[in-house]
Order: sequence, then structure tokens, then C-alpha cells
Amino acid sequence: MPSDAPAHGYDFVVVANRLPVDVSLGEDGEPTWTRSPGGLVTALAPVMASTSGAWVGWGGSPDLELDPFDVDGTELIPVMLSEDDLERFYEGFSNDTLWPLYHDVIEPPAFHRQWWESYQKVNQRFAQATADRAAQGATVWVHDYQLQLVPKLLRELRPDLRIGYFHHIPFPPLELFAQLPWRVQVVEGLLGADLVGFQRAGDAANFVRVVRRLTDLTTRGQMVTLSKHGEPGRHVRAAAFPISIDSHAFDELARTDAVRERAQQIRRELGDPEYLLLGVDRLDYTKGIRHRIKAYGELLSEERLSPQSTTLVQVASPSRENVGAYQTLRDDVELLVGRINGDYGQVGHAPVQYLHQSFPMEEMAALYLAADVMLVTALRDGMNLVAKEYVAARSDDRGALVLSEFTGAADELTGAVLVNPHDIDGMKDAITYAVHLDARESRKRMRRLRRRVLGHDVVAWSEDFLAALNAVPVRAERG
Ligand code: G6P
Repeated sequence: MPSDAPAHGYDFVVVANRLPVDVSLGEDGEPTWTRSPGGLVTALAPVMASTSGAWVGWGGSPDLELDPFDVDGTELIPVMLSEDDLERFYEGFSNDTLWPLYHDVIEPPAFHRQWWESYQKVNQRFAQATADRAAQGATVWVHDYQLQLVPKLLRELRPDLRIGYFHHIPFPPLELFAQLPWRVQVVEGLLGADLVGFQRAGDAANFVRVVRRLTDLTTRGQMVTLSKHGEPGRHVRAAAFPISIDSHAFDELARTDAVRERAQQIRRELGDPEYLLLGVDRLDYTKGIRHRIKAYGELLSEERLSPQSTTLVQVASPSRENVGAYQTLRDDVELLVGRINGDYGQVGHAPVQYLHQSFPMEEMAALYLAADVMLVTALRDGMNLVAKEYVAARSDDRGALVLSEFTGAADELTGAVLVNPHDIDGMKDAITYAVHLDARESRKRMRRLRRRVLGHDVVAWSEDFLAALNAVPVRAERG
């Protein structure tokens, strides 16, 4: 047993930038917490509930040094991020370099050496916190683009661990990834894992191609073979594991009387529109919110939809508000919404109901149930769990989903009306088609969608990933 394995560590450790809760200091100086938002947290909550493991992550407030604490049987191990780390590691390198680079450079990525320094330093801190808590031979599951160096750093500290990594966002083609000045270090960081999981087969293929072109390692299909002193060493597998949601819990929530009644109330409060369209996104430039609202505005102006009897509810939850591109996006969206409401609204009725807020799950379920058409028009999205939530909520087999081809979900949700969000005319036709879908066709599509979403939930996803992690051949240098 390596001397650096703790005597009483955890056999299963999740490592993610965020803890599943946001922690802040109450007025009495004691830490208080609330559940934190985001797809990753929502996805892993049911997995953690069924194991007794630990979760290493940031509590969501800067400069807060906290001791580990227990929430619902999971030990939460806070990692401190200073104001400076927030600016350089989180807002800078993670969300102003990697995020745009990995999302087809929709916005130009910024490359700053000081941000990269901070990214390395913070990744080292996460790796150390994990190494200090993981039991001998434990399984560690590292998540997402903020922590791509952790697999390698952790393996250096603790070669006894089995390490999986899951990438929740797209992995870009070599031609874009190659822009990153620290591309080789990032690839080597990821190759510290035994299994590197992606949302789509195309992401995994992009990664393997990057490995082939930027390193001298050999690859065969999904397998990368590392070499040690010129000899073949351990293997790393790169494969797709499309993430899902807690579909059955969501389905049940949306069947409750409270949610159904709230759905009816929402329609009433909106003046009983003939057609209720819905968009639900983090306010992010990858989500295609501008494109969607533009298409909707043109449908109103061309009288293909009537502004009196149609409402678009757009929930845009606040996100990464210190990053410039997000501030510009907010201004653009709000200008567009204001124009449409100014041009086509009436006293007592606005054709766009824009909500720059986050809502609890119950309210989201009621909105999904109230909506005739759900619009998911991302320009690029790793998966998009909102699309799956909408489907899971529709046990009435009604409603229609307009879904961008550029989401991971489009690979699976073939019952949706697929669109290219760059093609505004095409999107207008698709929205019109979805709005007028006859009941039989809409039911047929929704049933197909529901079979997929309810048949493959987040627990199946994590079981698939962890089984594949266990099946990666034990490396030569272990034992
Ligand atoms: C995406 C990312 C997550 C991230 C979430 C919210 O889903 O894949 O890693 O946590 O967005 O973003 P935030 O910057 O608030 O953590």
C-alpha cells in the first residue's frame, strides 16, 4: 500500500468544479448551503444518493475555506478558490478560453498565459484534495473541462487509483483544438485517466485523432496505448456515454396534481394563448437564443403566427456574468425581446415573456407541461438536458420538441423536429410545422422520444460508464 493513501479514505470519489451545493456563510458565521444549478449536478445527484462516496469541488463562493461536511450521506470536500482563481481559472481559462474553443469558436477564445498558470495551479489543488481522501485502489470519477489536468496529476500522486474522466461539453475537431497553445499538456492531462468518456461518438473520435496527431502514441479504434520506457504501457479507452436525467423522478414530478394545476394556471395567467412556445437555457451564447427569438419575431411580422394568440416564454437563467461575451449576449437578447414586444405587444399582452431568473424544478416541470412547443436551438451543445426534461415531463404524450442538430441530444432524440439554427428560414418552417402538428403525429413522435428518455436514464449512464471503467485492462505498471 502506498504510504500516501489515507488510512480511512473513500472507495468512490467524484471530482467536479462545483460541489452539488452552493455554500455561503450565514449571518452567524456558520456555513449554509443550497442545491447548486447545472446539468452536471442534476445528473450526478441520484448516483451519489445510491453510494457512500465523497465529492470534491468548489462551494460557489470565493475565499471560503471550509471543512468537509455531509449532505444526504455524501461527504462533500470543499476546494477553496480565491478571487484571483475565480478570475483566471474559472472566468478566464475555463470559460473564456476552453468554453468558446470547445464550442466551435462561436465566440473567439482568449489565450492568456496567466490564466493557464492559474488553471494548472487549481487543477493541482483538486488533485491533491482527492489524493488525500481516496482509499487505496479507489475509483475516482473526474468531471468536465475545468479539470482536464486532474487525471494525470492525480495518477502521479496516487498510481493505485482507477481514474475515469467524463467530458460534458463537446470535444472539438483537431483543426480548432490545435489553436490552444497548451494543447499537448491538456491531452496528456486527460490521458492520465483509464477511461475518457464523451457525449457523442464524434467527440471521442475527435479526441483520438488529436492524440494521434499531437503525440507519438499508438491508437487502435477507441484504445490508446501509452508507452513506458519504450515498452507498451497501460491503455486508455475513449468512448461515448451520452448522459441523461433522472427521467422517472421527473416523470413522476410532472404527474403530481400540484404541477398539473400550476401548468394550467400558467396558461391562464398568460391569457390562454392558442400556442405557447418555450425556451429554457442558461443565458449562454452557445444556446442559440438570439437566433430563436429572431426567427420568432419574423414569424410574427410575417403573420405566420399571430402575436395576439401566441406567447414565447423564454427562461434565461443568469450565468457567468463577469465574462464579457455573456454581458454582450444579455444586452443583445434584451434588446431583441424589447423590440418584439414593442412592435407586436398590446396592453396586457407581450408576445415574449422573458425571465432572467432560475426556477425550482416544480416550476420548470409545470412550464414544460404547459408548453405546446419546446424550442432547443443551440448552436453547439454537449448534450442538452432541457430537451430530455421536456420529454420526461410529457406523460400526456402531447407537445412537440424542436431540436437543434448541433446538440448531443439530437443523436438520440430522433422523434424531434430537427433544425439547423443558423438557417433562420428553415427554423421558421420547423417552428410552424411543430405548432400545427396534428395530434396523431405529435403523439407518435412524443412516444418515441419518451421510450428513449425513460429507457436510458442517468443511473443507466453512470452504470455504463463505471462498468466500462472497471473493464479497461489493468495497466502493466499496476502491481
Ligand atoms: C455546463 C458545464 C458544467 C457547468 C454548468 C454551469 O453544464 O458542462 O460543468 O457546471 O454548465 O456552469 P457554471 O460555470 O455555472 O458552473
